[in-house]
Amino acid sequence: MTLRALAARHGLGFGAALTDSGLTDPRYLALAATQFSSVTPENAMKWDHVERVRHTRTWDPADALARFAARHGQELRGHPLVWHDQLPHWLTEGHFTPGELAALLHTHVTTLTRRYAGAVTAWDVVNEPVEEDGSLCRTLWREALGPDYIAQALTWAHTVDPEARLYLNEFGALDESPKTKGLHDLAASLLDRGIPLHGIGFQCHLLLGQEAPALARTLNRFAELGLEVAVTELSVRMLPPVTPAKLAAQAATYRAVVEECLAVPACTGLTVWGVGDADSWVPQGSRSPYGTPTLYDGAYRPKPAREAVARALAAAPDGGLGTRAGHTAEQR
Ligand code: G3I
Repeated sequence: MTLRALAARHGLGFGAALTDSGLTDPRYLALAATQFSSVTPENAMKWDHVERVRHTRTWDPADALARFAARHGQELRGHPLVWHDQLPHWLTEGHFTPGELAALLHTHVTTLTRRYAGAVTAWDVVNEPVEEDGSLCRTLWREALGPDYIAQALTWAHTVDPEARLYLNEFGALDESPKTKGLHDLAASLLDRGIPLHGIGFQCHLLLGQEAPALARTLNRFAELGLEVAVTELSVRMLPPVTPAKLAAQAATYRAVVEECLAVPACTGLTVWGVGDADSWVPQGSRSPYGTPTLYDGAYRPKPAREAVARALAAAPDGGLGTRAGHTAEQR
């Protein structure tokens, strides 16, 4: 059975971050089309990809992924509307006034949400807003618009597309920590003010050997606020050489994360970051020795991790289709 079908038994989404260039490989394309019920453009919706040159927007890669998702009955998760990384040079080096930056961000957020209204079911509206100590990151946006930039971006997106589920997406907020508390406080205060926030995405870029996080406890704490939660970026990378023992340990970590999500009724789904090791983000642009983080190997053959995820989804009692927050079984 496909991962997508196994996850659907629980009313759970099982997605992947995709690149349009990946779709040119028939092995990638076949897996992307069959195994996953949602698509997150890995880079195609980022500002430096959409508007590398000011006022000249490039939609082809993101549109191709949107069409791919529609053709295969998959949800489209937009990623990300507001981030301090992968910004075009004209923006970071433009010496804009705070007022100009606010106007630029408003145009960017509303242009993307308008273009993909009805196609994107959930947006990572703000990516990685919280510092290790729980304070807001002092980014370009925080400096220019003040701390309320998050509320503003959520409100802008909601005004254009009231149907889209709006998320904050964060890394390193899996366990009890000042960062997790800061994210929780932020979410609670936005909800108190009636700001349209629907979910929290938890990035899970794990290193092999790292203890599997107590994710269910964290997810439940956010769910208690009335939010849906999702594992939005799952990967487990390892140091070479790749050995059967390491692949087995990787499989156990993947399985543990799937089980933690399954244990939380508000967890709407998991997204793996990349299809196979051949297209993985990990070696890209970094000198990191880590690699092989995905469910399929360099030739798109299933790894033990893929089988472990399938077994975890097959072994768990059927949670009842369509019972998870924010989604219906049909959407999967
Ligand atoms: O598009 C340029 C291309 O024109 C150029 O020739 C090439 C040369 O290196 O670089 C290309 O850009 C790269 C881009 O990926 C697209 O391939 C960037 O250098 C590279 O830095 C960029 O990396 C992406 C990274 O975000 C940037 O921060 C990864 O693919 C992507 O997987 C990663 O995704 C992030 C999530 O958005 C947020 N959470 C963490 C996650 C992993 O870092």
